[in-house]
Amino acid sequence: VAAERETGIDLVLAQPRGFCAGVVRAVDIVERVLARGDPAVHVRHAIVHNGRVVADLEAKGARFVESLDAVPDGATTIFSAHGVSRAVEAEAARRGLAVVDATCPLVAKVHAQGRRYAAQGRTVILVGHAGHAEVEGTLGQIDGTVHLVGSVADAEGLDLPAGTPLAYVTQTTLGVDDTRAIIAVLHRRFPDLVGPETRDICYATQNRQAAVRALAEVADAILVVGARNSSNCNRLREIAAETGRPSHLVEGAEDLERLTLDGVRTLGLTAGASTPEVVIAEVIAALQRRTPVRISTLPGVIESASFPLPSSLGHS
Ligand code: F3S
Repeated sequence: VAAERETGIDLVLAQPRGFCAGVVRAVDIVERVLARGDPAVHVRHAIVHNGRVVADLEAKGARFVESLDAVPDGATTIFSAHGVSRAVEAEAARRGLAVVDATCPLVAKVHAQGRRYAAQGRTVILVGHAGHAEVEGTLGQIDGTVHLVGSVADAEGLDLPAGTPLAYVTQTTLGVDDTRAIIAVLHRRFPDLVGPETRDICYATQNRQAAVRALAEVADAILVVGARNSSNCNRLREIAAETGRPSHLVEGAEDLERLTLDGVRTLGLTAGASTPEVVIAEVIAALQRRTPVRISTLPGVIESASFPLPSSLGHS
């Protein structure tokens, strides 16, 4: 720590980092629904997996619930960026709830692709993490039995009758290399399998994973700013750790204060797709309270994606 204090730290920021187009759109949807004055705006599930984003929207009047059972009749209901199952859509329709759907268009695209495969008479395999909100939604959007595969071991153990026509889709926020390994096992075991390779992993996930790899080439240690329940943040930390660099997921300035950074001269910083810029700025400020910080940004992809709002909210 003494050395850190004297010489300071080079802080290198990954490019891109932080919010993706799907998260920007989802937060914008909640803010616009609140601004138009709907009474009792309820959001089913955390709109995106970041506590600060949720707390800020709660302070503006949004109420977050895990189930439609907790939504009173007549309340406007927003579905989170992760998407929902058809059962949830049907329940909202049955209750006559006014729904605004903030499902990321790239998640909706996976739903549509899975439904197309099922309509072709194929049994669908979903590569994804059990229990994640997006996975729950995708499982419930595809007709018939969908088999969830979360690891190479799951892929090796999948027991399906020979000759079953098969297809797969994937969660959007998986590790690209891990997913490739799982898909390779599936192709080996089921030669007629069809699927999108890793193209269901969204542009934002792929870009942030490439950027954290580039960061690990120049940094002694890596900070990933983001929430512990965020899939894409966890993958970024894992990928950074696989390069051999000490890698830490920090939710905010308090986590940074607890970290020892002895011997770290060049610190890399990135943030997942659900992490707001304000939290990144707070982490940098906490670092600056400890030591002089020289900040630079690695060259990388400049993202230009933006997704239109639902037509009920007008386009921007
Ligand atoms: Fe959508 Fe990918 Fe962001 S699926 S919400 S663009 S992380």
